Amino acid sequence: MTTPTLPADAPGIDRAARLLAAGEVVAIPTETVYGLAGAARDPQAVARIYAAKGRPAFNPLIVHVDGIGEAERIGVLDGDARRLAQAFWPGALTLVVPLRADAGIASLVTAGLATVGLRVPAHPVAQAVLRALGQPLAAPSANPSGRISPTTAAHVLDASGGLNGRIAAVVDGGACPVGLESTIVGWRGGRATLLRPGGVPAEAIEALIGPLAPGHDLDAPDAPGQLSSHYAPDAPLRLDAAGPREGETFVGFGPASDETGAGALTLSPTADPVEAAARLFDVLRQADRLGRPIAVAPIPDAGLGAAINDRLRRAAAPR
Ligand code: TXA
Ligand code: MG
Repeated sequence: MTTPTLPADAPGIDRAARLLAAGEVVAIPTETVYGLAGAARDPQAVARIYAAKGRPAFNPLIVHVDGIGEAERIGVLDGDARRLAQAFWPGALTLVVPLRADAGIASLVTAGLATVGLRVPAHPVAQAVLRALGQPLAAPSANPSGRISPTTAAHVLDASGGLNGRIAAVVDGGACPVGLESTIVGWRGGRATLLRPGGVPAEAIEALIGPLAPGHDLDAPDAPGQLSSHYAPDAPLRLDAAGPREGETFVGFGPASDETGAGALTLSPTADPVEAAARLFDVLRQADRLGRPIAVAPIPDAGLGAAINDRLRRAAAPR
């Protein structure tokens, strides 16, 4: 079976909503990456998400809703969580908050935790699917577990390591404008904690609620799902490279130079971290297709650079 690609028009969205209502899983575009969506109240649909991704069952999923009102029926949005929701939703921020007892979310979504990750996506196609379905959607990134996240419909179905034949459909909404997963904030012992850097820079969050505790440690992952090898291409990856060594494919940040070769890839010709984030996963796929070890230039750690460097460190981590 091959997976059909649906256009992001009214009939395509209607078809996606019907499949989701029937318990199927469908990949949909969000502003961050493509998500593999299933109805969050339907345990079978959620089980299908885990099966299609080959994801370890202890790794909880983000619940996507169409607005703050629906989010509040599922989780408790108090104090700073509410301020962040009001400031950044719809958008690339996931809030991990206490799960309401009567939320009606399949326990597999939260992997049995007492908290739930909630997000209101900004992408018009994701919003249209949520409205057409009228129910929350559980959706991890639409890639096999541990592999590079998809930022186009073609990535979702990629012949080498995609989900073609494993899911009911993908809705083609073009390239994801942010290109990196959402920033995840949770609360530990009452302290706001950065569980994953992502599409909303940590600085923007701290400007609103003050310093975030680091919750995010490559060597001692304590949030579920913070496996150290993740986002991995097939090829080995070398970071902070001034240039390519013999036999390496170089991925730069800034204009291609004589040293790196005219054919070298770059995350952003103008060294713009926003553009680099949007292109990161696609460029990693392009580099991987060349079949040689990959060397990546240093990326400044401010703003979205922190999230880019997080993904690169995981892609380079021991497998
Ligand atoms: O941008 C995104 O966040 C994309 C799009 C599709 O929304 N989704 C995404 O989902 O990146 P996923 O499953 O690939 O990553 C979600 C992360 C996982 O590391 C998971 O462990 C964490 O969120 N997470 C979800 N619920 C959690 C919870 N209750 N407590 C702690 N971590 C949680
Ligand atoms: Mg993922």
